[in-house]
Amino acid sequence: MAEKSKEEKSRHSSLLFFFVLLVLPSLSTAKSTIEPCSGSDTCSSLLGYTLYADLKVSEVAALFQVDPLLLLSANSIDPSPPSAPNSILPSGLFLRVPLPCSCSDGIRRSLSVRYRTRPADTLSSLASNIFSSLASAEQIRDANGLSSADPDASLEVGQSLVIPLPCSCFNSTDNFLPAVYLSYVVREGDTVEGVAREYDTTVTDIMNVNAMGSPVVQPGDILAVPLPACTSSFPRYASDYGLIVANGSYATTAGHCVQCSCGPGNLNLYCTPASLSVSCSSMQCSNSNLMLGNITSQPTTAGCKVTSCTYGGYVNGTITTTLSTSLQPQCPGVHQFPKLITPPTQVTHDSFFVPSPSPLPSQSGGPVTAPKTSAPGSFALPGVSPANGPAGSISAATYFVNPLNHLVVVCILHLFLEFLM
Ligand SMILES: *[C@@H]1O[C@H](CO)[C@@H](O)[C@H](O)[C@H]1NC(C)=O
Ligand SMILES: *[C@@H]1O[C@H](CO)[C@@H](O)[C@H](O)[C@H]1NC(C)=O
Ligand SMILES: *[C@@H]1O[C@H](CO)[C@@H](O)[C@H](O)[C@H]1NC(C)=O
Ligand SMILES: *[C@@H]1O[C@H](CO)[C@@H](O)[C@H](O)[C@H]1NC(C)=O
Repeated sequence: MAEKSKEEKSRHSSLLFFFVLLVLPSLSTAKSTIEPCSGSDTCSSLLGYTLYADLKVSEVAALFQVDPLLLLSANSIDPSPPSAPNSILPSGLFLRVPLPCSCSDGIRRSLSVRYRTRPADTLSSLASNIFSSLASAEQIRDANGLSSADPDASLEVGQSLVIPLPCSCFNSTDNFLPAVYLSYVVREGDTVEGVAREYDTTVTDIMNVNAMGSPVVQPGDILAVPLPACTSSFPRYASDYGLIVANGSYATTAGHCVQCSCGPGNLNLYCTPASLSVSCSSMQCSNSNLMLGNITSQPTTAGCKVTSCTYGGYVNGTITTTLSTSLQPQCPGVHQFPKLITPPTQVTHDSFFVPSPSPLPSQSGGPVTAPKTSAPGSFALPGVSPANGPAGSISAATYFVNPLNHLVVVCILHLFLEFLM
């Protein structure tokens, strides 16, 4: 009698053991922010992408189906030399990719990127290399109905796959100020504090935006990082309605004719004719000799009379301009533009790779070296974790459980239960 009962309990505990073993890995998949949404509005977002190889600007642009000049502008790389789209960017470089963020099945997600498979591509290699862990193998598999595909098996060449990419909008505001959200894949050695410092925000802000219970992240997690931005107020019928530019960067619009910048001194969008070799319609304000971006000031006894010719949006292929005059206490100084750089040829890590306060075992001492482009993906253990993914766990605050720790925890739990019963 007692024997039987013991045996039964043992079986229960074993069942529990396997249950826990099955359930826990779903908590250990990378976390990413889930923003519920409704309707079909689209906003602008940025994707933090790390190059897996040396790639031409045009190749990166083609991968994400974005305009190469927009890609350059978003990274403050001078788009004006005709050779710019053909420059080769180094492997490991971190870029901000401007992507439209839409609403799909009630959550914010970008589904605008399609990828045509090449020889030797696997779901895992797409996830961890080509798309630098912005999507997991499971997410790509599920988005394309490849339910039975082995993540490490070669895919049929020439398939067109949708790559579901993370994005957030949060009404393009953060604490009631204009913001554009960057989807940032946490790398080895990153801390929330480091990421906050890098992007001029606070730990509290990142925690609030990402609904985190504690300021703890693991490599592979994807954070939504708010970047201060300049908004436009173009009419809804303008084709560039809703244009938003992150502080310190640029955007080209109106058929490559207009270049708008944000910062560094203030967060007012400032648009001027772009110096790209395209033919453009007139950019002169009517009834004046001022061109787009021109500001004249005239000191008077009552203050400074400032007249400006500003960009009003791209409407029906026409560049609209607005002439306005105002009386300001002081005359504005010369406009400062965000710094434009030439295409980088080397990766400098110090700006993106923030050392964590406590030394990590993997990099004890010595200088911080290049983040391995494939590293963040390798922890995801595609074979172990059952599909689930972040979409299943709306409570984004679930703590990440390291797969190794998790095994230890399960074993201890098992022993403990055995002991009890
Ligand atoms: C979104 O932001 C706009 C201003 O940009 C504001 O008027 C509106 O109330 C906000 N909507 C929500 C739902 O927060
Ligand atoms: C915008 O960026 C500049 C540096 O590029 C920085 O000095 C300034 O504080 C930033 N503005 C805001 C509002 O974050
Ligand atoms: C007006 O803007 C044009 C184009 O940006 C520029 O070449 C010109 O120097 C500006 N003129 C004045 C008076 O600021
Ligand atoms: C754009 O052009 C079409 C036809 O050319 C016209 O019907 C429409 O009103 C125009 N829209 C605006 C906002 O001017």
